[in-house]
Formats: sequence, C-alpha cells, structure tokens
Amino acid sequence: MTEQAVALVVLAAGQGSRMLSDLPKVLHRLGGVPLVGHALAAGRTLDPERVIVVAGHGAEAVTRAVGKLDPDAQVALQEQQLGTGHAVAQALPMLDGFAGKVVVLYGDTPFIGADTLAALASHTADVVVLGFEAAEPGRYGRLVVRNGGLDRIVEFKDADEATRRIALCNSGVMAADAALLRDLVGRLGNDNAAGEYYLTDVVGLARAEGRTAAVVTCDEAETLGINTRAELAAAEAQFQARAREDALDSGVTMSDPATVWFALDTVIGRDAIIGQNVVFGPGVTIESGAEILPFCHLEGCHVSSGATVGPFARLRPGAELGGDVHVGNFVEVKNAVLDEGVKVGHLTYLGDAHVGERTNIGAGTVTCNYDGVGKHRTEIGADAFIGSDTMLVAPVRIGARALTGSGSVITQDVPDDALALGRARQVVKPGLATRMMQALRGAKANAAAGSARGNG
Ligand code: UD1
Ligand code: CA
Repeated sequence: MTEQAVALVVLAAGQGSRMLSDLPKVLHRLGGVPLVGHALAAGRTLDPERVIVVAGHGAEAVTRAVGKLDPDAQVALQEQQLGTGHAVAQALPMLDGFAGKVVVLYGDTPFIGADTLAALASHTADVVVLGFEAAEPGRYGRLVVRNGGLDRIVEFKDADEATRRIALCNSGVMAADAALLRDLVGRLGNDNAAGEYYLTDVVGLARAEGRTAAVVTCDEAETLGINTRAELAAAEAQFQARAREDALDSGVTMSDPATVWFALDTVIGRDAIIGQNVVFGPGVTIESGAEILPFCHLEGCHVSSGATVGPFARLRPGAELGGDVHVGNFVEVKNAVLDEGVKVGHLTYLGDAHVGERTNIGAGTVTCNYDGVGKHRTEIGADAFIGSDTMLVAPVRIGARALTGSGSVITQDVPDDALALGRARQVVKPGLATRMMQALRGAKANAAAGSARGNG
C-alpha cells in the first residue's frame, strides 16, 4: 500500500460557552499548552503536508496561539458557527491543489493517540470515521453499521429510539479522500433538528454514490472532549497521571511522582532524578543523569547530563545548562547559557548572560540586565570568580580568569586575569563600637528618667 499524503483540519471555532470564559475554549491550558496544541501535536505525527485550523470565537487569539504552537499551520476563519460541515467548508480553499487524505480533528479533544490516527489515515475506505463504544452514549452521534461497513451517522437530536440504543458513537474524528470531501461538503444541507451543516452527513452521501465508508474504533478515553472547567481539571489529572507513568516507564527516577507536573512536550532522559514538587512548564529537556532537586520550576530550558538543579531553583525560557553545571537554591536563570562546570550555588539572578566553563558565581550575584527600557547582556569568561553580592550592570563583560570582589558594583568591562573592586574602601575606628554603645545606652536611660518625672 502506498502511503498517501495527509492534510490536517482542526476544528476550533466553537465558543465553548460552558467554560464560562472570555478565553476561547481551545486556548485553555492542559499540560502547560493550549488545548488546541494537543490536537496539533497528535496530528503532526501523521507528518501532514498541510495543517489548517478553523477558528471563529476569539479567532485573533487562536491565530496567535496557533502561530506559536505550529508556525506552519494556517488558520481559516469561520465567522458564524453553522456546524461542523460548514467549518470544514471554510478550510477547503486552503486545500486547493492538495490530493490525498484529509484528517479532521477537534481542537477540544486532546487525547487522540498517534496509533489511532495512523490506523485511521492508512485505512483504504473512502471515508473513515473514528468511533468508540460509549459507556453512556448520551448525546453523541450514532454510527449505523451495515454489512460490516459504515452506513451513516445519525445525530442524537435526529435519531429515533432504535438508533439511540446503538452504543457505537462518533468521536468526530474523520478521514476522507480530499477530492471526495470537497465534493460532498459542498453538497451538505442543514435540514435537520439543529439546523446545522453536519460534517457527519458526508458518510450517507458517500454511500449513496457507492463509495466505501468504515469505522476505526478506539478507547473511549481517547475521545474525551473538554466542555467545562471540571472536565478540564479532570483531563489535567489524567494527562499528568499518564505523563508520570511514561516518565517512570522510560527510566526516570521520581521519589514522589504524584507531586511532579509535566507539560505536553517535556523530555527527560533515563536515569535523570526528579525530586518532589517539581513543575515542568513547556519546552523543557533534561538529559540523562541530570538531577532536579525538590521544589524547582522549569520552563523553556535545557539541562545537560550531570547537572544538578535546586532545591528551590527557577529556570526560565532560554536557560541552557551545560554538563555538570550546579544551580543551587533560590537561583533564577533566564535566557542564559551556563557552560560546562559552572557553579552558581545560592540566591542569584542570571539573565541575558553567557558564563564560561568552570566559572564560579558567588551568592547574591545579580546580572542587572534591565535599565527600565532595554535588556542588556552580561558576558563572563571561563574560570572566572564572581565574588558574593556582585552587581553586574549590563552591558558588561568579565574576562576569563577574572575576579570581582564581594559586594562590587561592576559597571565597566573587566579584562582577562584582572581583579575588579567596585565598592567603598573599608574604614576601621578602634574602640568606637564600645563608646558608641555607651553613649546610646546613656541617652536611652536619660529619656526614660525624664518621662517618669513627667508622669508623677
Ligand atoms: C459532534 C458530532 C457528533 C459527535 C460529537 C463528538 C457533528 C454534526 N456531530 O457533535 O456526531 O458524536 O461531535 O464530540 O459533527 N465546531 C466548529 N464550527 C462549528 C461547529 C463546531 O469549529 O460551526 C467545532 C467545535 O469547536 C468543536 C467541534 O467542532 O471543537 C465539535 O463541535 P460540537 O458543537 O461540540 O459538536 P457536537 O454537537 O458535540
Ligand atoms: Ca462536543
């Protein structure tokens, strides 16, 4: 069987009114990324030639989010939500010239598996629908099967009693030949109980022309759609449970998995050790053998083999930790590359910086990267030693093997091998501490005696 080209259409125009939200439903986050990102990621496993998201409610925000999640995706606008068939029709102009299979997904259905999609896309029938045996079929569309093939889909609202007893339900996911879909979607009507253009009607239309239609089934859990905040929270719990299981199964050590939070794209190598209460935001990769100690928050960062992070550290987007780097407690790193063997143990902010190999950053060091208007870079060479409580006022460059004295405010570049001191010179007054304390105690005693007389 030759593999056919795939185009992906993700329906995401609905308002999701039951979320009671100003945010379009598909932008609510699950596993650290907008819901629609899950459908896009699942669809990407089919290696599609084109990806089209149909947006309507909050289309501007959805377009921005899609641009970040999948820069190659296009967005089609559906101004009025006249039904799933109408939604697919809005994507058709972007499918001009495409030959192959169109796979339709929903932006609010995050758990469809890659294997399921592969089975759907590689099926030879002209129209293939993803179905599932529903524990409670409720208001789902029902799949009417005859002689082993799919005959039609009947929406709950339009179904008679006998049809409503069918437990095989429509997930909404569908694959169809592009030319056929173009033709059939153009012919959909809205003469039904909802007055909508149903995408599901393409099955009956295809069969009427002697085309083939089939059902591929999956587990009901894969078809779970999000409609309410409670469902979103339940889906998050389900997502996290699976992510923890996957991490354990792939050789990651976690002392208390239930307290570790993953994002959709978190990647952790085997033999990495993750302590309690660690949160992974989007875009984190942890190499084999790295250790994240308890209570860390990581996002958009990379931690190399042998590195240790935390406890209580924060790695923000653009933090790149080389091999054997040590980042300790109450350290924040943002948009900064720490080369191999760098040590930054305590109470430090490194932002918009590059730190060379084996350099030691003393406690309380701050890269003063923001002047209120622009951001500026700090460059620190290899084998340097930044004394505790150094303020590095960017833009500034510290040379290799250079030293800064504790408490320095460094505003000018420091050459290689130099010592820089930027602090007031120390003054020592012998005996003054004792004399000062005596004077202060005397003053306090006088004041107390004065107020006692005043009260008498
Ligand atoms: C749809 C199916 C039903 C299936 C169910 C599974 C149809 C006619 N019915 O019903 O058979 O059992 O999904 O959940 O297809 N959308 C748009 N534009 C629109 C309408 C919908 O983009 O004009 C999007 C929604 O944002 C949503 C998806 O399509 O992501 C499904 O729409 P929804 O209204 O939830 O369809 P159901 O009535 O649940
Ligand atoms: Ca729905």
